[in-house]
Amino acid sequence: MSGSLTTVAYLGATILFILSLGGLSNPETSRRGNLYGIIGMAIAVLATVFGPHVTSAGIPWIVGAMVVGGAIGLYAARVVQMTQMPELVALMHSLVGLAAALVGYASYIDPAASANFSGAEKTIHELEIYIGILIGAVTFSGSLIAFGKLSARIGGKPMLLPGRHWLNLIGLLVVIWFGVQFIRAESISDGMLPLVVMTVIALLFGIHMVMAIGGADMPVVVSMLNSYSGWAAAATGFMLSNDLLIVTGALVGSSGAILSYIMCRAMNRNFISVIAGGFGSDSGKPAAKGGPAEPAGEVVPVTAVETAEMLREAKNVIIVPGYGMAVAQAQHTVYEITKLLREKGVNVRFGIHPVAGRMPGHMNVLLAEAKVPYDIVMEMDEINEDFPDTDVAMVIGANDIVNPSAAEDPTSPIAGMPVLEVWKAKHSIVMKRSMASGYAGVDNPLFYKENNRMLFGDAKKMLDEVLAALKAA
Ligand code: TAP
Repeated sequence: MSGSLTTVAYLGATILFILSLGGLSNPETSRRGNLYGIIGMAIAVLATVFGPHVTSAGIPWIVGAMVVGGAIGLYAARVVQMTQMPELVALMHSLVGLAAALVGYASYIDPAASANFSGAEKTIHELEIYIGILIGAVTFSGSLIAFGKLSARIGGKPMLLPGRHWLNLIGLLVVIWFGVQFIRAESISDGMLPLVVMTVIALLFGIHMVMAIGGADMPVVVSMLNSYSGWAAAATGFMLSNDLLIVTGALVGSSGAILSYIMCRAMNRNFISVIAGGFGSDSGKPAAKGGPAEPAGEVVPVTAVETAEMLREAKNVIIVPGYGMAVAQAQHTVYEITKLLREKGVNVRFGIHPVAGRMPGHMNVLLAEAKVPYDIVMEMDEINEDFPDTDVAMVIGANDIVNPSAAEDPTSPIAGMPVLEVWKAKHSIVMKRSMASGYAGVDNPLFYKENNRMLFGDAKKMLDEVLAALKAA
């Protein structure tokens, strides 16, 4: 394939990637967006493999690597549970970081590559290598720690070393100093020491940065590492003089940064304070995650039959799904109940919190899978004002996202996080298995409110019973 044909193919792939991102921003167009992404990536891979930079002797190696990598990817995609998605994504980001660091080393020690540059061009090329390896190594180790935290292999509590900001600052200064030594190095072997020292510092920095961030901020960290992996890919694009990789990396880098910002806003967290770490430490009064919260009052349990009665008598119902609905895989039964109630003239809508579940869009994906019409699925901002006019707010396996202390208790660790104000409805029903706390590990005063009822049990089992009771009536 000639160079100009490759350029045209790259241009086509770039346009498809931009269309893909546009499509993915809305549930109705997301399938199309995904398809654009797949086609764009197929074109990009083919144009690269058959492009002018790959010799025919290299093709079997590339195909072999693609078969092995593709098989592992296919296996992982098939066995991963929806709720494990963030950890898989974190693991994949670590691979992008590793690839960027390895490509950096390869392009530094490749004598043919360095022979192409001299003078200012050589300095720029070496700077690309240094920065590429730096971002790649931070992304690699940080993503591995994020994977460990999300999969509960490492505890969620932030690890706060004394003087940690100073440690980071010293690390940064050392990296800059070795960067100067690296650029000044006369030979490849002279440059190796600064490069290796910087890589070790970058790896330690990645570990330190994510270890200092509490479990409740992990969603932001994953999307931030997503952004880093994009910049690492863009840096690789510079090293390899591959325009498509630069554009794609920049797209991933900037969209990851925007997503981090949106998530911070949704959790009312300052981005800088998330990165600085420390949230979820002992300063608040969180209960142990998943453990029983301190009993802070009386709760009123109800049965599935009583829940069905309350729903039948309601005119307006808002369903608030959370992580528990995903775990119980209750979305299909939720929709069965919704259909039945709508047939009886009840106005049923869904209220979706931006960080409900364990990944962005988690609830939207599940509801779309169950074929819930998009027009009754509302964002938090669209529906929050309607709770006072709602007869029943039914919370299914959600906890933190409906916690009134976020709005009412300034000392709460989640103070200021916007939440769905279900307690303003005439009645709220919370469906969960026990009094255990949610992801952020904080007690939930909603459970003890006078107008709240608790339906204890697995969400799927309870909703099956509610459905049966509705049908029997
Ligand atoms: P959580 O606050 O984690 O609460 C989920 C509740 O579901 C738990 O209290 C649990 O109580 C219940 N549950 C678990 N399995 C269940 C089952 N089989 N049947 C019924 N209930 C079940 O979830 P949320 O309200 O969706 O809030 C999300 C939280 O996760 C936020 O703190 C958010 O910051 C964080 N987070 C979000 C993301 C993204 S990007 N969405 C990523 C990582 C973390 P029981 O054990 O008593 O049943």
